Amino acid sequence: MDQIKRGTLQTETFYDRVGGEPTFRRLVHRFYEGVAADPLLRPMYPEEDLGPAEERLTLFLMQYWGGPRTYSDERGHPRLRMRHAPFKVDRAAHDAWLTHMRDAVASLELDPEHEEELWNYLVYAAQSMINSD
Ligand code: HEM
Repeated sequence: MDQIKRGTLQTETFYDRVGGEPTFRRLVHRFYEGVAADPLLRPMYPEEDLGPAEERLTLFLMQYWGGPRTYSDERGHPRLRMRHAPFKVDRAAHDAWLTHMRDAVASLELDPEHEEELWNYLVYAAQSMINSD
């Protein structure tokens, strides 16, 4: 054991354990299908094309869970509360956002413990994004 050189042990991240980039792409793609059809959320998204927003959320979540740091290379520090300040994130928007996320998470059919870890984070993060009554 003490022959193992420092730095040669690879620690598997949550990102790896759930299947890496394809898993996060499926998650966020499914989520945005819900957003595209949502009468409350769809008008909040400034761009006609939801593709770039889908890419930003995908890259953010990949980075958050231990994958490549492409999000910050392209966008800088996440500062998510600040980036949501232009949008009215009230309880109704929060609930709609989580409804589509719940559906998207379920569609991945992860192991229950991975699903719970991902879901708990999303619930916590959505709560912290509320900026309006
Ligand atoms: C609670 C309800 C939420 C609403 C209504 C909401 C809405 C929005 C809107 C309208 C945008 C702008 C679209 C764009 O140009 O990218 C956006 C961006 C974004 N949101 Fe949310 N969001 C919510 C929660 C969250 C949560 C919980 C996360 C993270 C786990 C998140 C991560 C992001 C990211 C990464 C961006 C792109 C930031 C950038 O780089 O500009 N959002 N969101």
